[in-house]
Amino acid sequence: MKISGYTNVLAVVGNPVRHSLSPKLHNFLSEKLGRDYVYTAFEPSSFDGVAQAIKTLGIRGVNVTAPFKYDALASVDVVSENARCSGSVNTIVNEGGTLVGYSTDGEGLYLSMKHAGISTIGKKVMVLGAGGAAKPICVMLKNRGADKVVIKNRTEKRAALLAEDLNRIVNTDIFSVYSGEKSFDLIINTTSVGMGTQECSLDDISLISGAEAVVDIIYYPKKTALLRAAESMGVKILNGIGMLAFQGIIAYEYFTGEKVSEEYYTEALNIIDE
Ligand code: ATR
Repeated sequence: MKISGYTNVLAVVGNPVRHSLSPKLHNFLSEKLGRDYVYTAFEPSSFDGVAQAIKTLGIRGVNVTAPFKYDALASVDVVSENARCSGSVNTIVNEGGTLVGYSTDGEGLYLSMKHAGISTIGKKVMVLGAGGAAKPICVMLKNRGADKVVIKNRTEKRAALLAEDLNRIVNTDIFSVYSGEKSFDLIINTTSVGMGTQECSLDDISLISGAEAVVDIIYYPKKTALLRAAESMGVKILNGIGMLAFQGIIAYEYFTGEKVSEEYYTEALNIIDE
């Protein structure tokens, strides 16, 4: 990679963010594809002034991560339809001084599932969690043909609000709150339960039996207690590494305006999975 005064600047903005794997992924893509971009990380204490800095310095684009995804939604000039429905922005592209906000989290998970041979079409899905991570995933499930999405959350009221909100925003009636149903095709954990711990995000493991796949957006540990339980029951499992890689690949496509060829997918996954 040859960096010059003409090199386009990309970055991830979050706090904390120094540990992020995004620089590794994006710089790998630029290297592979021979693009004149460099990707680094910024760790501001607040999002105040970040949008203006991107414009003033001519930064080509940024990924936004916790805790700034909602500030980013409020700071951009144009919000994509997907980001509006998802309620957050994780990718900002500077189009000649106009900041366009996208959400690539849901589609990132979709591509990761597709890559792993897990289909969403016609499926009855249980989504664990009703926080910020759940929303883009629910929007994706609707857009990608799920038949029914049941939201199960510790705070039931929050699940009810999310289901109601989603049905209205994406004009559907597929979202509902868990009310004792027994069988699901897919189970997707969007909570933070099990991140770096042995806790299981699903209290009733028997709900896994009969599922085609169990997906966890957590990537540390690589096999959460939920995934280990599913694996022991012979159910296909998928962790959050692919979602992380693919949301980045989609963001990279927005930054550069070019498709990333599928031939790089496996290598990109390995870069994140090391
Ligand atoms: P994020 O933006 O990462 O989704 P969030 O909005 O704080 O973060 O949501 C975290 C999700 O994990 C929520 O669904 C939360 O449940 P509550 O709505 O009841 O808070 C869930 N969660 C976090 N810690 C939990 C725990 N110890 N047990 C069960 N659910 C938990």
